Amino acid sequence: DDYQAEGYGHFMRKEIHDQPTAVERTLRGRLDDRFGTAHLGGLNLTPRESREFKRVKILGCGSAHYAGQIGAQLIEELARVPADSEPASEFRYRNPLIDPDTLYVAVSQSGETYDTLATVQEIQRKGGRVLGVVNAVGSSIARQCDGGIYLHAGPEISVTSTKAFTVTTVDFALLALHLARVRDLSPADGQRLVRGLRALPSQIGEILKLEDQIAGLAQEYGTCPNVMFIGRVRGWPVAREGALKLKEVSYVHAEAYPASELKHGPLALISPETPTVAIVPDDELYDKNLTTLGEIKARGGRILALAHRELPSALADHTIVVPRAEPELDPILLGIPLQMLAYHAAVLLGHDVDHPRNLAKSVTVE
Ligand code: G6P
Repeated sequence: DDYQAEGYGHFMRKEIHDQPTAVERTLRGRLDDRFGTAHLGGLNLTPRESREFKRVKILGCGSAHYAGQIGAQLIEELARVPADSEPASEFRYRNPLIDPDTLYVAVSQSGETYDTLATVQEIQRKGGRVLGVVNAVGSSIARQCDGGIYLHAGPEISVTSTKAFTVTTVDFALLALHLARVRDLSPADGQRLVRGLRALPSQIGEILKLEDQIAGLAQEYGTCPNVMFIGRVRGWPVAREGALKLKEVSYVHAEAYPASELKHGPLALISPETPTVAIVPDDELYDKNLTTLGEIKARGGRILALAHRELPSALADHTIVVPRAEPELDPILLGIPLQMLAYHAAVLLGHDVDHPRNLAKSVTVE
């Protein structure tokens, strides 16, 4: 009851600004500088079990699914175990094969999403083991799972998820680091990631200072009838979540596409009326991304880039410069400006930001 939007105007904005504190809380007591690893007391996995499973399957709905996609990339990249994320709402209806050598992970802020809960029960019925990545302590999904990680993100009131999404990706980085260090990752790389994780709260603080710039861009990139979001590999789930945020609160039609797939169809949608928001981290795919931006510019498309440095004006009309994390952790930071973009677009359009039409915070029906 004493949780208020305070001076922030809306819960969504307050929760965006809560993120440095929420990330700090989720990291507290979990990082080990000496061994370059993470300690997650609730996992209920012995080091031997952590070494033995052969795949990771992540399941959740909405933003939880996209956070899971970032998680799957982190786990596969760091722990070198094949991992993927699928909407729980699809998985539970397709009679999936449950494999005893797969570690299943259910993701849910509320811990009450019916499709996700039913997925956990279906996996367990067929003998699978499920970890939960859940915010609400003691919720149905948390109780049903065989172990897991609590987000400790604090309450999230706004229907559209912001801080729970970010904290979920941080917790997947912890899980990936933990698994990686019992499998294949060197102590030095582990320590590098621990330092990178510790830096996140202050880096998020730096991003929040960009709010005025982002609010100024919201008119041009967040209120037109159609917006395209693109990213490659690490940038791809960031683009998907960015498009979902914009849809949810501004009701703008936003489409997310892998930058690599643009030329196989959606390039036909590009015109001066349909701007693109491009995720362009300074990683090994930077040059490939610049080529894609050139293809969009050649069709008269306007581009807002999220990048680690100002892009040439011939390739991007505007750049939001985001602080650089360790490369594996970049997606955690790159999503945050997109939350602010969606928020300010919705405010400009006069929508009820915390209670978007047709949506519920937690979908407890089928
Ligand atoms: C609803 C909300 C989304 C949320 C999804 C999953 O659809 O509107 O914002 O991502 O449920 O919620 P959960 O509580 O399971 O993370």
